[in-house]
Amino acid sequence: MAPSRLLGVCSLLCAWSVVTGHPCSLDHQGWADCNGKSLLHAPSSLPSNITGLDLSFNSLVVPRHGTLLMHFPSLWYLNLSSNALLALSPAVFSNLRALRLLDLSSCSITYLHTDTFKGLGNLQTLLLRNNSLQGLEVPFFLPLKALFHLDLQHNALVSVDALSLQLMEAVPQVRLEGNPWVCDCAAHALQQWLQRRQAVQVTCALPPGLQGREVAALDSQDLGCWMKQRFPRWVS
Ligand SMILES: *[C@@H]1O[C@H](CO)[C@@H](O)[C@H](O)[C@H]1NC(C)=O
Ligand SMILES: *[C@@H]1O[C@H](CO)[C@@H](O)[C@H](O)[C@H]1NC(C)=O
Ligand SMILES: *[C@@H]1O[C@H](CO)[C@@H](O)[C@H](O)[C@H]1NC(C)=O
Repeated sequence: MAPSRLLGVCSLLCAWSVVTGHPCSLDHQGWADCNGKSLLHAPSSLPSNITGLDLSFNSLVVPRHGTLLMHFPSLWYLNLSSNALLALSPAVFSNLRALRLLDLSSCSITYLHTDTFKGLGNLQTLLLRNNSLQGLEVPFFLPLKALFHLDLQHNALVSVDALSLQLMEAVPQVRLEGNPWVCDCAAHALQQWLQRRQAVQVTCALPPGLQGREVAALDSQDLGCWMKQRFPRWVS
């Protein structure tokens, strides 16, 4: 392209971004791409009827109270990956009732409040890959009635309790690989759950003797459950 043409395109684009007041690109289907724009907040000048919003690779600040995205009730796709969101306050997404997909990968999230996902009754895909979650607060699943795909790969999960497993029973696709699972007797319920789902590639990090072994392939003796009668019949 000739330099003069380039200049022409640039001045057009620059003028556009001054007119619209945001650095994002919008397509005619209502998708806004704001990837990697050093944004602290979602631009409020975006049209309120957008259906997809990519805010990945920014520096978004999560409000202590209230909601993150007030002005976009039609959103069904929201990508917040690679923002250091750290702590998500309760009900922070509660006005995004149409949301189907939420990508929160690589956001350094260490903890999810019980009410973090309140109001997301239509959410089908929740991506929490590559965060620092150490445990799952059971009720955080409860509002997610339509959840189909939950990705918890590469977090810091060492164990998961029976109630969480029971709730995850309703979710057809759950990814748990890449966590530092501790394979002791408390992992028995997880082992059974993985075996029922024929889930492979979920491996132990500890104890050292079981490091790298597939959890689903272990038996209760491997897990150090010496007293079998500790388990009621329905577990096995
Ligand atoms: C959003 O609203 C604008 C103006 O009101 C309209 O031109 C556009 O088609 C709408 N987009 C969608 C995806 O509905
Ligand atoms: C979200 O954005 C990241 C980085 O731009 C991208 O790699 C990822 O595929 C997106 N997630 C989805 C579900 O589209
Ligand atoms: C995981 O997240 C960290 C930030 O918490 C990021 O620096 C790193 O690149 C991410 N890794 C992958 C494989 O996405």
